[in-house]
Amino acid sequence: MIHCIGAGPGDPNYLTLRGRDLIAEADVVAGFDAVLDVARPHIQPGSRTIGMNYRDQTARLAEVAELHHAGKRCVVVFMGDIHFSGFQFLERIEAACGHPVETIPGISSAQILASRGRVCFDETTFITFHRRGDLVPFQKHLVHVLEDGRNAIVIPRPWDFMPSDVAAYLLAAGIPGEHPVEVWEQLTRAEANWSGKLSECTGTFTDMSILLIRSLHPFPSQIQPIV
Ligand SMILES: C[S@@+](CC[C@H](N)C(=O)[O-])C[C@H]1O[C@@H](n2cnc3c(N)ncnc32)[C@H](O)[C@@H]1O
Repeated sequence: MIHCIGAGPGDPNYLTLRGRDLIAEADVVAGFDAVLDVARPHIQPGSRTIGMNYRDQTARLAEVAELHHAGKRCVVVFMGDIHFSGFQFLERIEAACGHPVETIPGISSAQILASRGRVCFDETTFITFHRRGDLVPFQKHLVHVLEDGRNAIVIPRPWDFMPSDVAAYLLAAGIPGEHPVEVWEQLTRAEANWSGKLSECTGTFTDMSILLIRSLHPFPSQIQPIV
């Protein structure tokens, strides 16, 4: 058995009870080192932990697949939610196992940002650039999202499409520099953040940063006035 679990955006309080229980029942818990820190308090003393990084993930996932095929209960922990900016990692796990695996959703950085920034999902589009391959279709989509009057929650790509690159791309594509923008780092701890106009977004940020680009023309409020 192998379960892929969204472990939340870093703060252990955002790990779901379902995720916590599966980690506690697992013989093997695997994942990127920073994400394993969230799982660690729930890993049983006799269980095996397999940490990995970008360079050795293929070899480490092959170990997990072997243990899974030997009948061990395996869990792979993901940052945030699997379903936002997690599918390339999921595909690598399924390639190692040779079949589809179970996915357990978690709380995404996008959800925390929506809450911090008080935007509703209905009027907001999530776009990640944190992926291998061609960014152009996603860049074009971001332009359309803003032209349609929606907010955008954007994960940049370290280090070639960071917040300042996103802003420069949008300005060059004709998006007005007046769009309000927030860049959040280490969201759940709110250690650092920046806000200003799109045209002013020129600073440098860490790879744990996420942007909220607000619509210039918000949809009319859906809340009825109290009379
Ligand atoms: C590969 S993506 C995975 C996103 C994840 N699946 C999710 O739902 O949040 C990793 C990126 O998400 C963003 N991210 C995740 N957690 C974050 C946090 N606590 N604060 C700020 N950004 C975060 C950062 O841009 C980070 O580089």
